[in-house]
Amino acid sequence: GVTGSIAAYKACEIASTLTKAGVNVTAVMTRSAQQLVGPATFEGLTGNRVIRDMVESGQNANIDHIAVSNSADLFLVAPATANILGKAAQGIADDWLSTALLVTHAPILFAPAMNTNMYTHPAVQENIATLKQRGCQFVGPDAGRLACNTVGPGRLIEPAEIVEAVWDLLKRSDTLAGKHILLTTGANHEPIDPVRYIGNRSSGKMGLAIAQEALQRGAKVTIITGPSDVTLPPEARVIEVQTAQEMSNAVMVHMDEADVIIGAAAVADYRVTHPSDEKHKRSTTALNIELTENPDIIGTVGAQKREGQVVIGFAAETHDLIAHAQEKLNKKHLDLIVANRVGTSDSGFGRDTTDAQFLFRDGTVEQHPVIRKRELADLLMSHIVELLSKHTTLPASPQSGNPEVSAERP
Ligand code: CTP
Repeated sequence: GVTGSIAAYKACEIASTLTKAGVNVTAVMTRSAQQLVGPATFEGLTGNRVIRDMVESGQNANIDHIAVSNSADLFLVAPATANILGKAAQGIADDWLSTALLVTHAPILFAPAMNTNMYTHPAVQENIATLKQRGCQFVGPDAGRLACNTVGPGRLIEPAEIVEAVWDLLKRSDTLAGKHILLTTGANHEPIDPVRYIGNRSSGKMGLAIAQEALQRGAKVTIITGPSDVTLPPEARVIEVQTAQEMSNAVMVHMDEADVIIGAAAVADYRVTHPSDEKHKRSTTALNIELTENPDIIGTVGAQKREGQVVIGFAAETHDLIAHAQEKLNKKHLDLIVANRVGTSDSGFGRDTTDAQFLFRDGTVEQHPVIRKRELADLLMSHIVELLSKHTTLPASPQSGNPEVSAERP
């Protein structure tokens, strides 16, 4: 995708380098990009017909944008103007490129290029944040003297770095192909009577991020979800449940098919022992409700997992984070636990960001300060690829030892 920035000519070098390296490149040019570089240049460099803005030329009537968008392994928009970022973030589809960006399921990489004041404007920064939250990747921009003579961030990053970012994304796009990930997510609603329930604050955002990242890497994804605030991807198989017992039953039915089982749900630890068939009436005396313990879903999976299966849990804690997470890692026979603080302003339930500590069976801890849930899911996928390749699933036995902090995210 080439848009109307003065840096559009640099896209020629990107198209040429990728084509020479064996990538099948199709250039899509917006109307303003065509005023800066001739489509014939891209046609010559890529050997493919250039797709031009569909409104203006009418030449693309025979190009099915859905088919083309679906066949792409990656969408690179370089240079990406403030305009295309705004359209992509807001879902506006008024030309070929912006329409294709809504259609494609391929990873999208933007290389922004614009005037510094535009780049730092809150409107643009908010659009970038929205796109990142949806899993779009960004490379650049660089800082320096711009064509408009201002100095600051906004210059298109060097083509070589853009090509490097393309390789990174293409390489990882099939790293989980053929693998099946089973994921629990959302909250549980434990009925008190036909109208009321016991619930919790889980939004399901973390589970959504995990599912999206797993799908992007080519995994088959089954999601067993309790009530949540998010819309789950249609490419995943989604099984909806309400209670912890229903969630547990569904996990037990599907766990054998899975290579990786991730417990991201905020499972209700207790259910009402005797939910009433009739609505409780108000009375002047105190109401006591007896609770019964629910099954520990991921703990049961950890204890029953077969050789080679990877089991991952989450630990949301308000205090003694590492100690509690370490205890859960051991008790539930997990290969990895992701611990995070809840109850702070930038971490936990309902938020887009979280802090995270990855605790592994060998006692190492990887610390990450506040990051987006989508970034956390990305890191998690990289660890899953590693765990699957090493087959490091240890036998289900408790392990002692103090965790040691091994890595701090830069
Ligand atoms: N979990 C589960 N079944 C339960 C409780 C928790 O599968 N009945 C899973 C969660 O999905 C998460 C991990 O276990 O992956 C830890 O959940 P958490 O609620 O932090 O731990 P609990 O074992 O419930 O301990 P506590 O509530 O006492 O902190």
